[in-house]
Amino acid sequence: MCGIVGYIGKRQASPILLDGLRRLEYRGYDSAGLALWSDGGINVFRKAGRIENLRKAVNEISPFGDLGISHTRWATHGAPTDENAHPHLDQSGKLALVHNGVIENYQILKDQLKQDGHEFHSETDTEVLAHLAGTFYDASDEADLKTRLVKSVQEALSRVKGTFGVAVMHADVPGVIVGARLGSPLVVGLGKDEQFLASDVAAIVAHTRDVIYLNDYDLVTLTRQGYEVASLDSQRTARVQVSKVDFTEDDAEKGAFEHFMLKEIYEQPQSIRNALRGRLNRDECTAVLGGLNMSPMELRQIDRIIFSGCGTAYHAAMVGEYLIESLARIPTEIEFASEFRYRNVPTDKNTLQFVVSQSGETIDTLAALREAKRKGLRCLGIVNNVASTIARESDGGVYIHAGPEIGVAATKTFTSQVAIMTLLSMLFGRIHHLSSTDGLEMIDELEAIPEKIESILKQAPLIKSIAEKYAHAEGMLFMGRQINYPVAMEGALKMKEISYIYASGHPSAELKHGIIALVKPELPSVFIAPDDAVYDKNVSNIEEVRARKGPVIAVTTEGTHDIERITDDVIYVPRCKSILSPLLTVIPLQLLSYYVALARGCDVDKPRNLAKSVTVE
Ligand code: F6R
Repeated sequence: MCGIVGYIGKRQASPILLDGLRRLEYRGYDSAGLALWSDGGINVFRKAGRIENLRKAVNEISPFGDLGISHTRWATHGAPTDENAHPHLDQSGKLALVHNGVIENYQILKDQLKQDGHEFHSETDTEVLAHLAGTFYDASDEADLKTRLVKSVQEALSRVKGTFGVAVMHADVPGVIVGARLGSPLVVGLGKDEQFLASDVAAIVAHTRDVIYLNDYDLVTLTRQGYEVASLDSQRTARVQVSKVDFTEDDAEKGAFEHFMLKEIYEQPQSIRNALRGRLNRDECTAVLGGLNMSPMELRQIDRIIFSGCGTAYHAAMVGEYLIESLARIPTEIEFASEFRYRNVPTDKNTLQFVVSQSGETIDTLAALREAKRKGLRCLGIVNNVASTIARESDGGVYIHAGPEIGVAATKTFTSQVAIMTLLSMLFGRIHHLSSTDGLEMIDELEAIPEKIESILKQAPLIKSIAEKYAHAEGMLFMGRQINYPVAMEGALKMKEISYIYASGHPSAELKHGIIALVKPELPSVFIAPDDAVYDKNVSNIEEVRARKGPVIAVTTEGTHDIERITDDVIYVPRCKSILSPLLTVIPLQLLSYYVALARGCDVDKPRNLAKSVTVE
């Protein structure tokens, strides 16, 4: 969603700020802006639409400034217009502020400020915060201007309800940027005589890999020479830890690929190897997941597991449910994080909760984690983004180590999450019912998966031609059974989000209970029908669709040629243990949605209305 980049140092700030915003584009936005400090004044630029519009506006003037803050906005309060884009100024026009999050009590504050004579120029909640901070600044008699700015930001934030990541600068306070966070990520980048502030480390990794991930209630004051972190909450002391970013600028670039999504689809053999590395124990025929922070005794006591997540992470959790119940026989439930947080799910001391999130910042998943902890549950994270809020607030967990995922549509993180679910099911399985022979077979089969994915990727030209054939379909149905039902859901989600074709995923047998009414020549069905225990059942469902002249694309196992007789197009995946098939069957669906979107001329990496990390409810 919204993005923040701040810079203070010796260099021209605007190229750094614009480049940082470009690197945050993937998070989703609809307007952008920046404020630069120069010669005792602040130049503000704000443009609706792409960052390119902002770049042009800035380059027309080419202002010098070695301090600045910038923002990409994903509209919540007010349409995506120039006026509503950040930064916003206070009443004096001297204090500039950018903000991620939502100020829930902004209307009350705005009404009060209006009564005091303030004039507003936007419909945003953020402008209210800028005016409020400016009011405290102007009213203060503090002689030290840096302290005065810090205190005014502190005062303003203590009056607001909601969530925020903010960056603030003031025309009269040269050489200072103030940042603070509550519920919206913010990271400080440390350089030599220069400092950075960003909502996502990807924005600044080209300049520094030494960073401080701020915690909720942290307030940071940046100067050229360094930083100070204080707490907005008098009850708690700010804890500062300098970390090293574990990826480079190149990892967050497209390289030779046309889109990030395609690059990330092709990275899957490697990202799965990374998820498995060091976590398979052949001697014990099991998985090793030290980050769970649980003793064998504690693990053995778990008699119920709950997974929560959103979107693709939820689909990976659905696969996890099948895996754990099959291999470990532990009753497992999946809950949409957004539902879990408002439900009163019965739990007891032997229930273990996992929250699954690529970004580690999804607000609903974070809220599910907090709700679980409030109820005394042990809550672990399955997270990609190291040092994200979910990673830090959970009681332990497993990093999926997929590397930065920039394409808005999640691809490699789905397979990495499923790989981790598989490890969990092996770990729990081996302390319950799974034999050493079966454990060892799982290890062998898992280790063979990356190579099998490589062979599927080689079929991209075939999948592209199938995609082009159906690119203008009215809609698409995705059908799967058992462990491939979540894959059908995931295939439909990918298709919807990047090609804007309406698609839905269903258990194949549900067809007869209503969905079949939709079947017609203009609506293709994609069946995920590997050669497993329910293959024949899937074949019967395919026949039902064929009988009603619905085109069928099948994803099935190599060697299952009889399916060609009843389908229009077939994509083969290598044979593997049935329970691992989602790791293979999802790959053609990712490629199918990618090539359909391409054929329809859609912006694959930045689909409309979507944001990579959903930090509002
Ligand atoms: C789909 C997609 C979203 C995310 C969802 C959760 O391609 O990307 O559905 O999966 O917003 O995001 P994380 O995993 O960051 O919590």
